[in-house]
Amino acid sequence: GKKRIIIAIDGPAASGKSTTARKVAEKLGYTYIDTGAMYRAVTFKALREGVLEGLRRSPGSVSGLLDTISIEFRGDRVILDGSDVTAEIRDNRVSREVSFISSLKPVRDRLRRMQQDLGRQRAVVMDGRDIGTVVFPDAELKIFLVADARERAKRRYAELLLKSPEGAELPDLDLLEDEIKQRDEEDTLREHAPLKKHPDAVEIDTSDLTIESQVERVYTLALAAGTK
Ligand code: CDP
Ligand code: CDP
Repeated sequence: GKKRIIIAIDGPAASGKSTTARKVAEKLGYTYIDTGAMYRAVTFKALREGVLEGLRRSPGSVSGLLDTISIEFRGDRVILDGSDVTAEIRDNRVSREVSFISSLKPVRDRLRRMQQDLGRQRAVVMDGRDIGTVVFPDAELKIFLVADARERAKRRYAELLLKSPEGAELPDLDLLEDEIKQRDEEDTLREHAPLKKHPDAVEIDTSDLTIESQVERVYTLALAAGTK
């Protein structure tokens, strides 16, 4: 028979997680949950309230930030404390600080609980860094996406090119690659819920795959996992 399952997709930056997760969710009629957007929303809140430097000096004070926070998904929009921050959380300033905020245990504890609530009815595709290892270690299907760092930098560059107004200055590819590697390193080396492949996860290298073929592979695995 067909059952409602959880599909956990983890991997480093720009490996193709959200593109794959969104399309697989659509094909299955499941809900897609972008947990990176939740960590980005907390980071955006810290920047907006001007408390980031204070947090670096005394990380314990992060609970103040979490006390009143509300994060919701409405369709593909991300709502922080009642306002739409979908565009703002993709800002480079947020990308540079998000690994620090994500390393704090109170932040992880709070978001993990929110994510577990969102997946309670199952029928979700959730992507992030620790979904298969920590948030849903019992997920019926676990995927670990990887891709060559240069290729990942090129993907981000292509996205910036599309988003930027004509004549805008773009960061160079080497810088993008360095920033991506730096974030992967911070995410991999942190103490709490580091980026890591679960032993049962299926690893897929997307460096030389088309989007269609990576989606097809995960979709096929999902159909098999849902009929076991
Ligand atoms: O899309 P991109 O690869 O740039 O990253 P993201 O999925 O938006 O995640 C941004 C950051 O949030 C990551 O670099 C991690 O520091 C953190 N994150 C995490 O710690 N745990 C998750 N489950 C998801 C994201
Ligand atoms: O969520 P994550 O950061 O892992 O990656 P993403 O945002 O899904 O993908 C990064 C970019 O790579 C997107 O612009 C995709 O269209 C592109 N891409 C891909 O995901 N897979 C390929 N085989 C080729 C390009």
